Amino acid sequence: MPVVLSVDFGANHPYLRLMALLPILEVPDPRLKTISTPVETFDDDLKKLVDDMFETMYAAPGIGLAAIQVGVPKRLLVIDLQDEGPDGEAVRNPRIFVNPEILDPSEDHSVYNEGCLSVPDQYAEVERPATVRARWQDLDGQVHEEAMEGMMATCLQHEMDHLEGILFIDHLSRLKRQMVLKKIEKARKMGGGHVHNEHCRHD
Ligand code: NI
Repeated sequence: MPVVLSVDFGANHPYLRLMALLPILEVPDPRLKTISTPVETFDDDLKKLVDDMFETMYAAPGIGLAAIQVGVPKRLLVIDLQDEGPDGEAVRNPRIFVNPEILDPSEDHSVYNEGCLSVPDQYAEVERPATVRARWQDLDGQVHEEAMEGMMATCLQHEMDHLEGILFIDHLSRLKRQMVLKKIEKARKMGGGHVHNEHCRHD
């Protein structure tokens, strides 16, 4: 398993740690349908798992990852939509959500073209509440609440679906979902396990 030295993830992660890339479960792995259970212990193992999840997500690359996607059925997810720096460069903004809840989803909806590291190289438009109020715990168990909108609202809802065993393709018609699954199966048969695109970081 590849191991790399961490970069500074900000205030929560001031130390250099050894981190590991975790294998990401992909459809049709039945474990992705697991309903995850609440995190009850806020210890170093949880911090290590979060570090590994960030490393795995950044390497993929992706913008969100739920613990079940790396085979851990806990209500835990990480998101980084990245901010724009002063010179237009992308600046990391890692967010950690333990035991997240959605409090009041708006009646107005928005549509985003979604993808998922567990549904490799496939994208589809999904409609979800445009704004939500979210409550979650941090790595110390402290409770936070915040209004979310735009891509953050959508991403949080997408990741929270994973905690219920739901993928974004489950929001599509059966026909569309089967098309997506067939495409993935075909790409795997063609070799390499995925379709190469502009996001690939290898030859
Ligand atoms: Ni996903």
